[in-house]
Amino acid sequence: MTPSPEYRYPQSPVFYRNLTRRFPKIVCGEGCWLFDDRGKRYLDASGGAFVANIGHGVREVAEAIGVQAGRVAYINGTAFTSDAAEDLAGELAKLNPAGLRYSYFLGSGSEAVEAALKLARQYCVETGKPSKHKIISQSPGYHGNTMLALSTSARGHYKKLFEPWLIKVPMIPAPYAYRCSCGGKASCPICSGSILEKVIQEEGPETVAAFIAEPIGGSSTGATVPRPDYYRRVREICDKHGVVFIADEVLTGAGRTGEWTAMNHFGVSPDILVLGKGISGGYVPLSCVSTSEKFIEPLAKGTGSLKHAQTFSHAPTACAAGLAAVRYIKKNNLVARAAKMGKALGRHLEILKSLHGVGDVRGIGMLWSVEFVADKKKKTPHPRSLKFAETFVDFAQENGLVVWPNVGQADGTNGDLVMIAPPFTITEEEIRQLVSLFETSLEKTLDHLAEKA
Ligand SMILES: Cc1ncc(COP(=O)(O)O)c(C=O)c1O
Repeated sequence: MTPSPEYRYPQSPVFYRNLTRRFPKIVCGEGCWLFDDRGKRYLDASGGAFVANIGHGVREVAEAIGVQAGRVAYINGTAFTSDAAEDLAGELAKLNPAGLRYSYFLGSGSEAVEAALKLARQYCVETGKPSKHKIISQSPGYHGNTMLALSTSARGHYKKLFEPWLIKVPMIPAPYAYRCSCGGKASCPICSGSILEKVIQEEGPETVAAFIAEPIGGSSTGATVPRPDYYRRVREICDKHGVVFIADEVLTGAGRTGEWTAMNHFGVSPDILVLGKGISGGYVPLSCVSTSEKFIEPLAKGTGSLKHAQTFSHAPTACAAGLAAVRYIKKNNLVARAAKMGKALGRHLEILKSLHGVGDVRGIGMLWSVEFVADKKKKTPHPRSLKFAETFVDFAQENGLVVWPNVGQADGTNGDLVMIAPPFTITEEEIRQLVSLFETSLEKTLDHLAEKA
């Protein structure tokens, strides 16, 4: 076989985010599998970055994109609408938690988070509460990489360089039972959510516009599911203090946790819902801000528009992809499948708990994580300098397994976990292969780090 060129800096003209690694070139995908130009295959056990929810190679979505692109290149969302945007919003209105009937389409999760925060602020101003401007978020937590979304994120390593540009955002500790001293008890102010009220009081309720949270931990707390009453408490507190509750479901939405949104598990509606990643199955960049009449009506009667404009909002081709993906999910009952196969996935992953270096395995639906520790009993994280999660991910990729790493969750600096979030179409046989590839990747990681020590 002729050797492939090196796809990396400086050989490749592409400016990749990571400038030191080699990038295999993927030529196609089918179901849960990716194939590179050397004929090697990879089990996509994280849907890339929690995106490929319906699997690779879904012809219906590819065709819908082609048909819509063939009709019109582009129309601007301030002047025209399209069947694709109207029909997608109509489908979401049926699937979203109660009342969230109106949807605003954008490209990325970060953009949608920015738009959701701006909507919350604009709502406060247009309903006569201009002093409300603060945002409260959770730590650990992640909401994106644009400046306002980054301000609300508890990601020191992303924020450090840009600190002078970021705004101060008060944060409450996220419910993270594995690392909370209470282990997840109702009496704990963190795990019950009641700590939110304390922080709102400290900040001054008249200054707090919004609370934003990932309803089920994404990579930040490694698929931690809060107590069943957590969001009822949050809802009560937000209602009491006139705080807009934004559920960031960029990662957990579109069926990932075995319900259309993670909020469905809690039986609570947020004021604003943010979807992204899997909403188009990854076939095009698409995200969405959904809300109710309560938040749109004052704008419609007031200034008349949302003060957030982007060229590609409501882009017909992107909406057509989203519509085809959502219809594919419905037609094939993929949310129910995520719930059912998620249980099988959890059962198979459970055996990893007994392995050396694995502290915890947790999750729900098609969203799971494996947290690595240096000491199982004390839950001591590895020192960051070891780069445990990154090393594991490199060995996994070499082994033909794609998983998603997260670092720093234990104390802001240290902590290593990987996320497992395959397409909802994964079979039990593929789950077995996943677990086997995981085990060999972990052995290689431990051997490699022991040799280096
Ligand atoms: C919960 C959450 N919100 C927002 C974002 C930002 O989305 P994007 O990377 O598409 O801008 C992410 C991305 O990982 C996320 O996980």
